[in-house]
Amino acid sequence: MPLPNRQNSDGRNPRHVGMIMDGNGRWAERRLLPRAAGHRAGVKVLEPVLEAAGEAGVESLTLYAFSTENWTRPQGEVDTLMRLFLETATERVPELGERGVRIRFVGRRGLLPDDVLGSMQRAEELTSGGDRLDVYIALNYGGRSEIVDATRRMISDGLDPDDVTEEAFGRYLYAPEVPELDLLIRTSGEMRISNFMLWQIAYAELYITETLWPDFSKEEFNRAVESFATRSRRRGGV
Ligand code: FPP
Repeated sequence: MPLPNRQNSDGRNPRHVGMIMDGNGRWAERRLLPRAAGHRAGVKVLEPVLEAAGEAGVESLTLYAFSTENWTRPQGEVDTLMRLFLETATERVPELGERGVRIRFVGRRGLLPDDVLGSMQRAEELTSGGDRLDVYIALNYGGRSEIVDATRRMISDGLDPDDVTEEAFGRYLYAPEVPELDLLIRTSGEMRISNFMLWQIAYAELYITETLWPDFSKEEFNRAVESFATRSRRRGGV
């Protein structure tokens, strides 16, 4: 069944939601399971969350899947995560495409294994016509790297210093077409940003929940959106 048509008419719901999906490891450890089981359980949560996002009229969802710092995890865990990304991109994407989801990846493509890169490219191509929900997967992503990469490209384009405005900078980010982040959801209770979308979160509202990512649900996504709708966003004004 396709996701509902976009309808965010009252402007109270967030257009762009970011998710730091944390707590897979702890979820598994509490059950005396290997950490890989936590990551597998984490993948299962994606579908209901995408569905909830579509129903809430969210236009873009950015998921923090693997950071530039995650390479320092034990090699076995990095391999498990890469395998899981490959499997998910291969097995789940066709259905998501049919439901109107458009998938894009943000982050540095270097370092990622060739088979993962291939599956990312195929997922982007296969879903390029999706017009119900844009899902950005942050893979080998770092907020600081994004800023550095944008700066490098501005310099190599020969931009005049006077032309380097906030607006111009935004055009050099990995996904310049996406609106800035309205709502950032972080699971597992940590009160930090962890190098996620440093430029785009300038005015984002934060929703931090103790729920571990594999226990996150459609209902809790809806609670985060409801909480967003009741907040008054002054953006430095009164
Ligand atoms: C954090 O849990 C989660 C990750 C490292 C990201 C991996 C996310 C998934 C597998 C969900 C599915 C995503 C996609 C796009 C397929 P953690 O290991 O840091 O947990 P801990 O802090 O409890 O150890």
